[in-house]
Amino acid sequence: MNNFEFKNPTKIIFGKDTIEKLESEIPSDAKVLLLYGGGSIKKNGIYEQVTKALSKVDVTEFGGIPANPEYAVLMEALQVIKDKGINYLLAVGGGSVIDGTKFLSAAAVYDGDTPWDILTKNVKTQKGMPFGTVLTLPATGSEMNSGAVITRAETKEKLAMGGPGLFPEFSILDPQVISSIPERQLVNGITDAFTHVLEQYMTYPIGASLQDRFAESILQTLIEVAPKVIKDPTDYKPAADFMWSCTMALNGLIQKGVPGDWAVHMMGHELTALFGIDHARTLAVIAPSHYKYNIEAKKEKLAQYGERVWNITEGSIDDKAYAAIEKTEAFFQGLGIDTKLSDYTEDYEGTAEEISKRFTARGWKGLGENQDLSPDKVEKIVKMAY
Ligand code: NZQ
Ligand code: ZN
Repeated sequence: MNNFEFKNPTKIIFGKDTIEKLESEIPSDAKVLLLYGGGSIKKNGIYEQVTKALSKVDVTEFGGIPANPEYAVLMEALQVIKDKGINYLLAVGGGSVIDGTKFLSAAAVYDGDTPWDILTKNVKTQKGMPFGTVLTLPATGSEMNSGAVITRAETKEKLAMGGPGLFPEFSILDPQVISSIPERQLVNGITDAFTHVLEQYMTYPIGASLQDRFAESILQTLIEVAPKVIKDPTDYKPAADFMWSCTMALNGLIQKGVPGDWAVHMMGHELTALFGIDHARTLAVIAPSHYKYNIEAKKEKLAQYGERVWNITEGSIDDKAYAAIEKTEAFFQGLGIDTKLSDYTEDYEGTAEEISKRFTARGWKGLGENQDLSPDKVEKIVKMAY
């Protein structure tokens, strides 16, 4: 196992009817900006629960943060923060609203002229404006980590940011919120969380048995609850397992002491930036090709995953590794998620070259756990995913 340090300061408040606990988490003298998305919270009762809990606090609202949080919209919110003297942010939404809030937390204290530089210059925010979250969609893990991904339509870019000062102070996770989530977003959430685990697990053996088993147990739990959550999102028991699995998949714990890959996400982000494909679906497009292309480097972990998660007992290491990739792709397809780029767009020719060009321009010469996934390899993987 590699050496590591671990600190996750986010307080999790988990369970039924916990949104009312907002009242005791936000300082009573705070000037709060309540941030939300396209309005789902106004239809499913979450907005009422939040505003009731905040009735004694000075609250300004900012709605309309779109899926794949858009820089131009966030810049409008930043103006509101400045104009109203806001000193506390509250995200009520999924990964997009929470990520947008993290960007604002960083941008509110950033002293450069152009907040986009936070993303392009890899600024690590040490202390942002404090914020909390009420999670409405299990998927990204953003509610308990310090990363964010921001989109800029103008330049068709989607870039990651973060820093130790961007953990939420608290996150409220009430699994009852799942009942109003459309199936498309439920299966996206399952696929995203599943791939988060794979990104931190599907590398090479490092002797971290506990992390491996944490990771495998999250994958097994997601496989087990997926059909139940889809069948009946009002069923509390699988909803609770689903929600906590998504958080545990990306709160830093399973990444400790082990190598990480994350190349599937880096390639996937480009497909969202270029074609607007849902984040999770881009991962299902890239992952099978990525694992096939990198079979030599990853086969031991692929085979271990095949044995322990999919009960593949027959054949050589190579056989088990390939069978594990097939099982993974079939799992995504079973959720109703297409796994080829051509399923999403007819305009895919040239995509691999464009992504490879972008990575070269950004100096991303070697992605993945071995830092050897060069832009020419990225080009081949994306082509395999057509
Ligand atoms: O906008 P509203 O009206 O809220 O509707 C949303 C949105 O249309 C809807 N929704 C959310 N909760 C709901 C609900 N509808 C009904 N009932 C509810 N309870 O779902 C739609 C999608 O929401 P969004 O927040 O975009 O989804 P998700 O949580 O999957 O977030 C995706 C974003 O997170 C980034 C992705 O790149 C993408 O931009 N990621 C963030 C990560 C992180 N910070 O750690 C890691 C991930 O890998 C990912 O990159
Ligand atoms: Zn993701």
